[in-house]
Amino acid sequence: MLDEIKKIESLEELQSLYTSVFGKNGTMTAKLKTMATLSNDERAALNTENTELRQAFKMRQTELEHAALNAKLSGEYVDVTLDTEPKNHGTLHPLTETLSQIGAILESLGYTMWTGPEVEDDWHNFTALNTPSYHPARDMQDSFFLDNGNVLRTQTSAIQIRAMEGAGVPIKMFGVGRTYRKEMDATHSPMFGQIEGLYVDKTDRHITMSDLVATIRTMLERYFERKLEMRIRPSYFPFTEPSIEIDIKWNGDKWLEIAGAGMVHPNVLRNCGINPDEYQGFAFGFGWDRIAMLKFGLNDIRKFYDGDIRWLKNSGF
Ligand code: DAH
Repeated sequence: MLDEIKKIESLEELQSLYTSVFGKNGTMTAKLKTMATLSNDERAALNTENTELRQAFKMRQTELEHAALNAKLSGEYVDVTLDTEPKNHGTLHPLTETLSQIGAILESLGYTMWTGPEVEDDWHNFTALNTPSYHPARDMQDSFFLDNGNVLRTQTSAIQIRAMEGAGVPIKMFGVGRTYRKEMDATHSPMFGQIEGLYVDKTDRHITMSDLVATIRTMLERYFERKLEMRIRPSYFPFTEPSIEIDIKWNGDKWLEIAGAGMVHPNVLRNCGINPDEYQGFAFGFGWDRIAMLKFGLNDIRKFYDGDIRWLKNSGF
């Protein structure tokens, strides 16, 4: 029997032989049941046989298992010197990152985020914003018009109108989104992003120009994480009166225009069904890509939209 066990070449055969010896109806099982009737010598002999058989099975099982493992290993070959596949983890786009930072700042100041359609009608993009049909701003903006008279939104200011029409006043909102104009160079892309703020409340809340300037300063200084030197210039926008432009000192000597702003024009409030004798407020708008470029020292706005992963990886975000 011991020789027979050694010659077995497969684990299945070994298992079936084992069952025939040690199973419920196995030969050894039967013999062991007679133990009580045996003489001492016979018992000793049976015990030895029992132990030897079990050991022989165990040993053959180990040998066969090793052989099977070796066969498997020699069939598989792992070259540990090969390069592994690079694992690229996705990240948020730099502009998404910028928006979430600015958004968090504005939300901490009590502003709620709004979006609006990129294809706008004349009312929301121009007319409600106090831009009459003959106004040169409509040409100045060099817009992409659709055949039906709609326009690819030229400014997120359109979102303020939608917000006031939709939610009424008092309101403290910011609008974000893509805007479109016919211009293209390193600092202008035909598609770019704007962030717009609007705060309108009862006149007795005294929302003033200085609140506006302080809000913009707070927002920019938190975003750029440092104190900024700011300059305010009088300007003109049809939807604000008075209107200003805000510059910040950059790289020690240069003044950079960073935002347009002003007190919401009474006509704009009226166009949204709000009485300008009861309500007043301010609005501001700035370039979403532009502040991202400044923060990270990037000089070509078009790169944001190329989708070039090498650039995105090295853009400092
Ligand atoms: N819409 C202006 C632009 O695209 C930016 C702007 C200026 C927005 C003044 C405002 C504002 O809300 O009050 O150039």
